[in-house]
Parts: sequence; structure tokens; C-alpha cells
Amino acid sequence: MSHPKKRVITLIPGDGIGPEVTQATLRVLEAAGADFNWDRQMAGVEAIEKHGVALPDELVDSIHRTQVALKGPVTTPVGKGFQSANVQLRQALTLYANVRPARTLPGVESRYDNVDLLIFRENTEGLYKGIEHTVVPGVVESLKIITAEASERIARFAFEWAGREGRKRLTAVHKANIMKLSDGLFLESFRKVSADYPDLEADDRIIDALCMQLVKAPERFDILVLPNLYGDIVSDLAAGLVGGLGVTPGANIGIDSAVFEAVHGSAPDIAGQNLANPLALIRSAVMMLRHLDRPELVGRIRGGLWDAIVNKKVVTRDLGGTASTSEFTDEVVRSIESGAVRPR
Ligand code: NAI
Repeated sequence: MSHPKKRVITLIPGDGIGPEVTQATLRVLEAAGADFNWDRQMAGVEAIEKHGVALPDELVDSIHRTQVALKGPVTTPVGKGFQSANVQLRQALTLYANVRPARTLPGVESRYDNVDLLIFRENTEGLYKGIEHTVVPGVVESLKIITAEASERIARFAFEWAGREGRKRLTAVHKANIMKLSDGLFLESFRKVSADYPDLEADDRIIDALCMQLVKAPERFDILVLPNLYGDIVSDLAAGLVGGLGVTPGANIGIDSAVFEAVHGSAPDIAGQNLANPLALIRSAVMMLRHLDRPELVGRIRGGLWDAIVNKKVVTRDLGGTASTSEFTDEVVRSIESGAVRPR
């Protein structure tokens, strides 16, 4: 009898709370019946100690082979030290679309009860090119690179996604009143692409006004399309609207490969204490399973999460509960094993 080969997926546990939330996510995937082979890779400080670089070739080669990775957070030193392994990875693999949904979750208390935002952040350029230098002591220059190619690419990706998922309206976010050339090009590219999608509503907001409107009435927005830096900031803000960083998943998608990771960082303040909420990475893994077209696994995990959070009311401390990382995971695993189903 021939056995189908197991799907290989690159696994980057990361550092800080990364290994804890990764371990929790692997337990949940296993309970749901996922039969992947994991190719473990390291990045950041751990990789520097072993390989002398923050983003080893082995890691990039692995994702070139597997085309899919599940990644925990990786610490980046502030103000000095090596360039972010996260940013390097996104640029090395041209993971141009950073997709970050922020949706109100049943059983998770938050300020609003009707948020359903989908954020598309351009992931390869803008101020994240990291092109900075000292002009003279006391004066530095940081270059913001915006190209029509990358701006149109993220806009088209968002419009395509919106069409597939039955979303209605896309809003480009910019500061083109001040940065007339760079943000102007981003906005012009969005408008150009929108002309190919007459059934979808398209408009735009200036970033500062958007932030105010998001806090006042987030239900008024559907999809946001943003350049790199604004997307980074607004997606954390959006996470805050629906329960915080502990619950918000994300995906970095490119032409050939995709890396699934939570919006949050390595949370050094709670690392190693069994306190982190693994939900954000578990939900990133659910996005990965959708990408891999494994609806049966998605269904089982969503059922387990629903049962643990809504019926049994087990949540971690960041959500006002008392469960540790492992207690929450135990409960989700039990719920999955009991065949819990999320009601429609
Ligand atoms: P952070 O997201 O790590 O933490 C911000 C706050 O949220 C902290 O109080 C933390 O305890 C809390 N938090 C985050 N995730 C949580 C979770 N799963 N459960 C419960 N509480 C959680 O942001 P911060 O402190 O700005 O960054 C720490 C490090 O992470 C930095 O080195 C940063 O560069 C890196 N980072 C890495 C990312 C990645 O690998 N994709 C993304 C963002 C930051």
C-alpha cells in the first residue's frame, strides 16, 4: 500500500514567547489531525549565535522548498544591532502582502462588538527598506521607497481577495496631502487598480483621520490597504479594538510562498512564564490551513476554540481570564478531541 507523502512545512519557533505559543499551536494542530512534517529553522539572536546571521540561508532555502512557514515572533534590537530578521525575510521572499484580519471574537471581551476589518499592508518597501545614513553628525536621512509596481501589486491582491470573500469596500490609507509624490503614487496606483473592479466600492482616507474614525466607529470600515509603516501601526490599533495582540493573526503572502505569524512580537515582559496567549498564533495556523485548502482541519480547530472560549469560558490573563498558556491549550485540545462544533 502506498502512503501519501506528508506535507513539509517550515517551522520557525522564534524567541521570547515564540517557543511557548508555537508549542501550543503544534499541540492544537496535532489534536485536529494535522499530519505535517515540520522543518525547524532558527532566526534572530538564536541564528546569530549559531550561524552568525539573523536570517540564515538554510531558513530561506527551506521556505523556497516548502513554500509555507509557520513562524513565532523574533526579537529585533531597538536603535542598534542587526536588521530585523522579520523584515529581511519578507524582502528576501518577496512576501509582498501582509494580511491582518481584526474581527470581534465571540467570548472575548472588547470595546466593540461588531468589528470586521481586513488589513492589507504593503510588506516589502516604504520606510522599511531601512535605507538610513548620517548626513552630518546630528542629521540623519531615512529614505521612503514607493514604487508603482509594489503599490499596484498590493492593491490588486486586496481587490482579488475582496472579490473572492464577498467583501464590499476597500479604503486606501495615506498621507498624500503632505507626501505628495510617495503617498501620492501609492494612492494613484490604488485608484488605477480599482478601475478594474467596478463591483467593489473604493475610497481613501488620510491616515490621521482614519485613526480617529477607527477608534470612534470601526464598524464603518471593511478593508484597509496601506503602505508598510502605516499598515504596521494601524494593524496594532485594530488588534486593540478586538481584544489585543494576544488574539490577532496574520499572514505574509508572496508569489511563491507564504509565512503565517501573529501580529504580536516576542513579548519579553512575559516570556518563559507560561502566560502568553497562544490564540493569535493558533489563528494564524488556521489561516495557513485555509491557504493549504484543509477545511476539515479548520473546522475542527474553530470548533475547539469556540467550545473552550465561549462554552467553557477559559481564557488567558490578557483577556481577563486566569488560564496559563498550557491550561488554555489543554482545554482547546480537549474540546477538539471531544468533536466540538462551532455553531453557524
Ligand atoms: P509585543 O507584541 O511583543 O508586546 C506588546 C505587549 O503585548 C506586551 O505587553 C506583551 O506582553 C503583550 N503581548 C504580546 N503578545 C502577547 C500574547 N500572545 N499574549 C499575551 N500578551 C501579549 O511588542 P514589543 O514589546 O513592541 O516587541 C517585542 C519584540 O518583538 C521587539 O524586539 C520587536 O521588534 C519584536 N517584534 C517581532 C515581530 C515579529 O516577529 N513578527 C512583530 C512585532 C514585534
